[in-house]
Amino acid sequence: MASKGARSDLRQVPVPRKRGTSVRSVRKYKITPRSRSGAQESPLYGLKAGEWQKPYLRTSHGVLYNCDCMDLFRALGTGSIDTIFADPPFNLGKDYGHGKVNDRLEEKRYLEWCFGWLEESARVLKPGGSLFVYILPRWAYRFATFLDSRLAFRHWIAVCMKGTFPRGRKLYPAHYALLYFTKGEPKTFNRVRLPIPTCRHCGKDIKDYGGHRKYLNPEGLNLTDFWEDTSPNRHRKFKTRNVNELKIMIPARAIEISTNPGDVVLDPFGGGGSTYQAAQERNRLWIGCELGDCSPIRSRIEGMDSLSCSMSPPAILRTAFMDVRHDLSFLRVTT
Ligand SMILES: C[S@@+](CC[C@H](N)C(=O)[O-])C[C@H]1O[C@@H](n2cnc3c(N)ncnc32)[C@H](O)[C@@H]1O
Repeated sequence: MASKGARSDLRQVPVPRKRGTSVRSVRKYKITPRSRSGAQESPLYGLKAGEWQKPYLRTSHGVLYNCDCMDLFRALGTGSIDTIFADPPFNLGKDYGHGKVNDRLEEKRYLEWCFGWLEESARVLKPGGSLFVYILPRWAYRFATFLDSRLAFRHWIAVCMKGTFPRGRKLYPAHYALLYFTKGEPKTFNRVRLPIPTCRHCGKDIKDYGGHRKYLNPEGLNLTDFWEDTSPNRHRKFKTRNVNELKIMIPARAIEISTNPGDVVLDPFGGGGSTYQAAQERNRLWIGCELGDCSPIRSRIEGMDSLSCSMSPPAILRTAFMDVRHDLSFLRVTT
């Protein structure tokens, strides 16, 4: 529900400038509605003009900010990121536990908000860079239509997701979409292979491959656009993730497909930090933000590699930011 007095008008918000450029262009952005009360519905998103934001966490590979993703986007340079993995709120009325996210917006306002960060995603990608968006099919086709004039469509990956429930007079929803777009021709495309599936009881192959078993690549089967092994664990003893966290294999595959070691991965919706762990474990650099509680991300990274949290990311990561005067902090765009 839209809050009373909420604004859904278009505002002129300055486009971030590279240092040294003189032309001050403006682009139309829609305002991000953020709180149920409407109190934070401001084109300023949080950071005031000229204000610095200190990172919440720095590691040997990445940097995390506790802020609105639009503040982070506007601090990033055009063409600065190799891959973006985004798993936004789905507008299903979820409580993200910190009161800053209104996850039940009027459809038009939700789409306006999403188009704002999708537009920014397209801007900050390097030529040939990749954008993955994990989202309900209901929103995915709208996102894909919006992105079509900005990026090149690669795949609609069906990510099997059992344990959901049909709503109203609908079919049983069994997959989420993982949209995969690139900025022009992909600069990196790594083939990911999966082990040949075997029966967990007898150890024999599950399929017979029509007599062509011997021709299969011993390194495994090519990953397809239909991911069946991604459902969350149902059994309590295997449940280690909180409710919003993705199985790490989902961002991990996106990263493996589209990046090489040393590349920069951005996730604007940190949640429990699965993308940052996947990136760091694969020796990719990462940049992230989370509007709510960032402590689960810190715990996750410390649990994975505590030493990395006492180190600083390499200086190359600074080049992703428009203002590199300060040590991986960023400045909000001045108005
Ligand atoms: C679905 S969860 C992401 C889960 C994450 N992919 C993982 O596996 O842990 C979406 C997250 O986005 C955060 N969020 C919502 N709006 C935001 C905004 N404007 N800026 C930054 N984070 C936001 C929410 O607090 C929530 O933690």
